[in-house]
Amino acid sequence: MATLDSALEMQRPPVVRFGQGALAALPDWLAAEGVTRAFVIADAFNGSRLDQLGLGAVPAFTEVMPEPDLPNLTAAVVAAEAAAPDAIIGFGGGSAMDLAKLVAVMIGSGKALSEISGPNRAPRRGVRLVQVPTTAGTGSEVGTRALITDPATMNKIATESRQMLADAAFIDPHLTASVPAFITAATGVDAMAHCVEAFTSKRAHPIIDAYAIEGTRLVGAFLPRAVRAGSDLEARAALSLAAFYGGVCLGPVNTTAGHAIAYPLGTRHKIAHGIANALIFPHVLAANRAAAPQKTALVCEALGFEGRTDTEVLEGAMGFCRGLGLDMALAAHGVPEDDLPAMAAEAHAIRRLLDWNPRDLSEADILAIYRQAYGATVPA
Ligand SMILES: NC(=O)c1ccc[n+]([C@@H]2O[C@H](COP(=O)([O-])OP(=O)(O)OC[C@H]3O[C@@H](n4cnc5c(N)ncnc54)[C@H](O)[C@@H]3O)[C@@H](O)[C@H]2O)c1
Ligand SMILES: [Fe+2]
Repeated sequence: MATLDSALEMQRPPVVRFGQGALAALPDWLAAEGVTRAFVIADAFNGSRLDQLGLGAVPAFTEVMPEPDLPNLTAAVVAAEAAAPDAIIGFGGGSAMDLAKLVAVMIGSGKALSEISGPNRAPRRGVRLVQVPTTAGTGSEVGTRALITDPATMNKIATESRQMLADAAFIDPHLTASVPAFITAATGVDAMAHCVEAFTSKRAHPIIDAYAIEGTRLVGAFLPRAVRAGSDLEARAALSLAAFYGGVCLGPVNTTAGHAIAYPLGTRHKIAHGIANALIFPHVLAANRAAAPQKTALVCEALGFEGRTDTEVLEGAMGFCRGLGLDMALAAHGVPEDDLPAMAAEAHAIRRLLDWNPRDLSEADILAIYRQAYGATVPA
């Protein structure tokens, strides 16, 4: 575990504009940077409201799919290259922002994703990069990482580089008011999972802990409100802040077993990233409790329940997620029971995350977690 004087490097965009009206500053920022040919990367929903960017008729790729795969990335790169832009703007959730990061370093490079994936292999970026999040979840707007699904292996390919860090992030919580309740719940749990997993990681660091526990507290206090009433702008702002804090946690510390065990649910069974995290989160929090009892108790307190025993942790975390309207049984999400062993093998191989979990989890431990989650009872 880190001590107060442990070394740590934090990277974040040089400009972060947060709050009501943040987006209105985008045109002036681009002009000051000398940008004349911005190109937008957006999902279909945000592609239908490009006017919000205040840039007039701006060229765009508006076909970002949720959890983008390699063909989706290739299509975005081809579209962007045709426009010869001097700035890339990611406008959407984590899917659009992750694609924007990769497009920004890949255009004109002639390189395939396989040549730049992993840490610090991305080519030098020749265009400006701006991120405008419209969900409150991934925190991708402040990070250096992008995740793309390889349809051949069903794995998420992580690419990470200082070159993929935005020059500016415009975080305007009002943009998230239109997110439906189910996606609000999923993305909010994702933000919370980034914070909680970083907080209990073997790599946890006091600087990051402050963001992590406050992000967890914000989700605990405000996610139920935003799910109940999407127009609750105070709750939306709190969640945009929590997502930002989660993004800060991802950089130097990152997630651990929760995300590793959740990944096969997304890649193999198309369960939305945040829902996958929610389904796994209570089980991992309880499984890790004995290895990090004080921090687990603080997480539980931040989410509004007591966590002194494994049972209290499991029931409390399940209750929190069910309170968001989520059915917590894996079985209810179309996962075939006979796939659980293959999922456990796949999750166990994600060493870049599992090696930092506070407790060593064997493949059998992970299978036990899937089995426990599989039959988790539905809300009363
Ligand atoms: N880079 C990172 O560090 C990081 C961290 C976590 C997750 N991710 C990745 O991010 C992706 C998930 O991102 P996400 O959870 O933000 O979801 P998303 O970007 O896939 O969006 C989910 C859905 O919400 C819609 N949507 C977006 N904004 C909306 C709005 N304001 N109103 C209505 N609908 C809206 C989109 O069209 C889409 O259908 C995954 O691929 C995941 O692997 C990346
Ligand atoms: Fe995540």
